[in-house]
Amino acid sequence: MNSEQNPSAERPVSYYEQVGGAPTMRALVEAFYPRVIEHPLLAPLFPEDIHPVMEKQEMFLTQYFGGPQLYTMREGHPRMRARHIRFPITPDRATAWLSCMQQAMDEVIEDSMLREQMMERLAMTAYFFVNTEEHEAEQ
Ligand code: HEM
Repeated sequence: MNSEQNPSAERPVSYYEQVGGAPTMRALVEAFYPRVIEHPLLAPLFPEDIHPVMEKQEMFLTQYFGGPQLYTMREGHPRMRARHIRFPITPDRATAWLSCMQQAMDEVIEDSMLREQMMERLAMTAYFFVNTEEHEAEQ
């Protein structure tokens, strides 16, 4: 069957769609940030009012996982590593971020294969954001 007979073959189904779209992105962010603000390595980096961060993260993860480009439409080009430069991100903090996200995914996304693939992508991104060595960080 070619792509004219089967239009869906032209475009792989995104993670965003496979995990349930907007309500799942919302649930993921809502499961993630309570863990972040309780984590001793992460909490000090975040503002007291976490809601604006949650909103931006929901928009960002939506497009990161192949959904509508919500973040770019509102905030412009993501340049996400650059947006993190003002925070000292050590390898341990990246690991902590990923561990909070793993727990949120375990809670929200049923399909373990999808969870694993999505976490693999996020792990590359998180370690790419590392900008500070452990010994340079003031805890
Ligand atoms: C590696 C560990 C990470 C740490 C320690 C970290 C920490 C932070 C902090 C402190 C903020 C800003 C809070 C504020 O506005 O004051 C932030 C914002 C944000 N982070 Fe991260 N982050 C990490 C990884 C990631 C990853 C992997 C992603 C996406 C896949 C991500 C997406 C975002 C987004 C979308 C924002 C909001 C950006 C904006 O203000 O427009 N972060 N992060």
